[in-house]
Amino acid sequence: MQIFSLLALLCLLTTIKAACELVNGACPSACNLVQGECVSQNCLDFTAKLGDSSTNPFKGTTAYIDGTVDLNITITYTDPKFTDTTLKGITKGENTESCLSLKLYNYEDSTNLIRTESSYTINYINDGSSTRAYQFTIPSKDFVKQLILSDNGTSFVFHGYYSLDFIIGSSLQRVLYFDFLAGIDRTSTDNLDTSFGSLSQKVQLDCSGDCQATVTSSLQFCADEACTQVTDKADLYLNDEIWLKHSLTKSGTEVYYLTNPEIYFTGDKLFKKATIQQSKLNQKGYALYLIKVEIAWRNVAIVAKATLSLTPTLRILDEQSRLLQQTSQKAQGLTSQLDCVKDKDSDTCIECDESLPVDNYNEPQGDGCPTMGDSILIFLSMILVALFI
Ligand SMILES: *[C@@H]1O[C@H](CO)[C@@H](O)[C@H](O)[C@H]1NC(C)=O
Ligand SMILES: *[C@@H]1O[C@H](CO)[C@@H](O)[C@H](O)[C@H]1NC(C)=O
Repeated sequence: MQIFSLLALLCLLTTIKAACELVNGACPSACNLVQGECVSQNCLDFTAKLGDSSTNPFKGTTAYIDGTVDLNITITYTDPKFTDTTLKGITKGENTESCLSLKLYNYEDSTNLIRTESSYTINYINDGSSTRAYQFTIPSKDFVKQLILSDNGTSFVFHGYYSLDFIIGSSLQRVLYFDFLAGIDRTSTDNLDTSFGSLSQKVQLDCSGDCQATVTSSLQFCADEACTQVTDKADLYLNDEIWLKHSLTKSGTEVYYLTNPEIYFTGDKLFKKATIQQSKLNQKGYALYLIKVEIAWRNVAIVAKATLSLTPTLRILDEQSRLLQQTSQKAQGLTSQLDCVKDKDSDTCIECDESLPVDNYNEPQGDGCPTMGDSILIFLSMILVALFI
């Protein structure tokens, strides 16, 4: 008798565990079918908080994190069930009872749904009130890589396009697209300005969860101009001229040329455009660039951006416009992070005071460090120097 009840209990336990699984296209009675996935009944309490096609319960804000140039992106919502421990929150990260998981994506721009899953950690903010938030941080060393850079004459303006995808199993429930602007004075990282753009909600992503992935490319150091040998790491010496090899690495993309390259030195607070002294773009699958190591910084990396093209020089001809549209994808290559830029004579790292605001626009100082923010101070010191000479 006892054995029977034990067996019965075991059976019951296994059925509870396997309770919400699709069997012959149907869900067991205690479960709900949500877009082809079988989920526990309280799942609808979580999906209901996502709003519908006419309501959007989310709000976004951006701010720089105090004392840094790192961006704080926060999406908040009001949770009517915040006091109920089994129903609070929306996603698994907030409540393990939930059926929804959350993914963060970074988009190449506003029009192309070319995206990569972001590796940033989503922090779940809940201070015990009905307001909850999803927060992530974009460090300034990633701005050039993750955001679209434009220059309005006085500031660099970084435009970011992201989404939060709410998913059940493999089925997408809601996509929250949002964009934001981060402005930084070109000559001083002291003057910062951000704004949150639009936030829109779609039931289904246009490419139904199967968006194009970004073109992948690598950026490596050449041993010499011929570039028959490449390395992932190199010692960077101030004022040295170095050749970089930018190669398309995704199979099928070897047939494209790389055109319109732009190169940046990036690091914390650093986004200094490099002057390309020479480039070799006339071969398929890769490009070579000659740049001067013109700036010193700790934990620095070099980023190259270029546009894919079927012809070595981009000619906009009518019959080509369709082709161009298909291939106007961008490739972005990144070197590994290097500890520092070295001084050639002493073979030691150049030390810059990285706590000071950075001038990312004007020529660096003689020692390779960026001129630090305050132009009046520099002007005064130049007068002083002039007086002593
Ligand atoms: C980011 O901003 C949110 C909302 O203003 C705030 O609650 C949070 O503490 C901020 N996080 C950081 C790391 O500054
Ligand atoms: C340039 O962008 C900055 C930062 O967003 C803004 O404060 C400034 O007004 C803009 N200047 C012009 C000329 O548009």
